[in-house]
Amino acid sequence: MGDQVKLNAGGTEFDYPVLKGSVGPDVIDIRKLYAQTGKFTYDPGFTSTASCESALTYIDGDEGVLLHRGYPIGQLAENSSFMETSYLLLNGELPSADELATFENTITRHTMLHEQLANFYRGFRRDAHPMAIMCGVVGALSAFYHDSTDISDPEHRKISSHRLIAKMPTIAAAAYKYSVGQPFVYPDNKLSYTGNFLRMTFGVPAEEYEVVPAVEKAMDRIFILHADHEQNASTSTVRLAGSSGANPFACIAAGIACLWGPAHGGANEAALNMLKEIGTPDKIPHYIERAKDKNDPFRLMGFGHRVYKNYDPRATVMQKTVREVFDALKVTDPLFETALRLEEIALNDPYFVEKKLFPNVDFYSGIILSAIGFPTTMFTALFALARTVGWVAQWNEMISDPGQKIGRPRQLYTGPTQRDFVPIGQR
Ligand code: ACO
Repeated sequence: MGDQVKLNAGGTEFDYPVLKGSVGPDVIDIRKLYAQTGKFTYDPGFTSTASCESALTYIDGDEGVLLHRGYPIGQLAENSSFMETSYLLLNGELPSADELATFENTITRHTMLHEQLANFYRGFRRDAHPMAIMCGVVGALSAFYHDSTDISDPEHRKISSHRLIAKMPTIAAAAYKYSVGQPFVYPDNKLSYTGNFLRMTFGVPAEEYEVVPAVEKAMDRIFILHADHEQNASTSTVRLAGSSGANPFACIAAGIACLWGPAHGGANEAALNMLKEIGTPDKIPHYIERAKDKNDPFRLMGFGHRVYKNYDPRATVMQKTVREVFDALKVTDPLFETALRLEEIALNDPYFVEKKLFPNVDFYSGIILSAIGFPTTMFTALFALARTVGWVAQWNEMISDPGQKIGRPRQLYTGPTQRDFVPIGQR
C-alpha cells in the first residue's frame, strides 16, 4: 500500500491515500472524507486544493519553473512557434514536420467567421470593451456551429477545438476594427497564424499590409507565453463550466469572462495604466509606499502571483522581447525605463522581498503591445486569444477523463438557521 495520511475525526481514525504525480507535491485523496466523517475541508481560493489530475502544464512557483508537457517555457519561447506549442498542448508531443504542416493547414482553414456574425458585432456600441465583445461573440459561436457541439464525440471536440483556436484571432481583430470604425479584414491563408492576426488588426482594404517579421515573431512569442498556465482562475472556470456538459463555445466564453478581471488577465491593461500614472522614475517611491499601505487599495499591478514566489519565467522572456520589438520598430518608450526602475526598487524593498512579490507575465507585456500599436483595451483580448489553446486542451483533457464529475464545491454555511416566514405587515 502507498503512503497514507491519518486523520482523527471525533475519536475515530481514518486513512487517506497519498497520490503521487510525476513531479511536484503529493496530494491527499480526500474523496471519501465527507462520506466517512461527515465533514468538508475549508479552502477558500483553493490555495491547498488540487481540483483535477492533469498532464498538460507543471509550475514550480518557488523555483520559477513552467513546463508544458515537460518542456520549459523558455525553450518553447526561444525555439518553437505558437502553432507548434498549441499542437504540443493539445496532443501531448511535439509534432513531426508533416504533423505540424497538417495542423497549421487545418487551423488556417477554420479562420473565417460565419458572415452573419458581422451583424452581431454591429449590435455593440462602438466604445464597447473588446472583452465584452469577445465574451458575447465567442458564446454566440455555439449558435452557429451546431455540427460540432456533441461533447461525447471526440471528433466533434477536435473540430470545435480547432474552430476556437482558428477563429479567435479573427474575432479579436474584428473587435478592434469595430472600435476604430474600420471595415473587418478577412483572413489571408497565405500568412502565418500570427501574421494573419496582425494583418486583420492593422491592415486596411485600401492598401497592402506588410507583416514585419520581428513583430510577427515577438507577437507569436507572446502568444506562446500565454498559451496555458495550469489550473488558474479562468482555466478552472472553463473546466467548471464544461463539467456540466456545456458546449465548448459557452465554456470558453466563461473563461474569457473570468480572465477579464484585473487580478487575472486584466492585469496587463492595469499594469500599463499604472506605469502611465506613475510616469517618471522619480514618482516611484510614492507609489511603492502606496502599494505597501494596507489602508490604500493601490497594488503594484503586474507584481505578485498566487503560485510564483520567484521571478515569473515568462516575465524574463517578456523583458527581453521589449528590447527586440523596440529595435525592430526603431522606437523606444520612457515607460520601459520606469518599469525597469520600479522592478529594481521593489525587488530591493523588504515588503516585496518578504512577501516574495516578483514581476509577473503582465508587467512588461503592455509595453510591447503598446509599441506594436495595440490600445490598452486590447491587451486582455490578446491574452484570451492565446489562452484559448490552453482552455480547449484542459477542457478536452477533462471530458476525456473517465473519472470526470460535475464540479460542485461545498461551503461553510454561516447564515441564519431555519426560521419562520413573517408576513410583511408584521415586520
Ligand atoms: N502589490 C502590493 N502588495 C501585494 C501585491 C501587489 N501587487 N500582491 C500581493 N500583495 C501583498 C498582499 O497585500 C498580501 O499582503 P498581506 O499578507 O500583508 O495581507 C500578500 O502580498 C499576499 O497577497 P495575496 O493577495 O494574499 O496573494 P494572492 O495569491 O491571493 O494574490 C495576486 C495573487 C491576485 C496575483 C496578487 O499578487 C495581485 O493582486 N497582484 C496584482 C495583479 C496582477 O498583477 N495580477 C496578474 C496575475 S498573473 C495572471 O493572471 C496572468
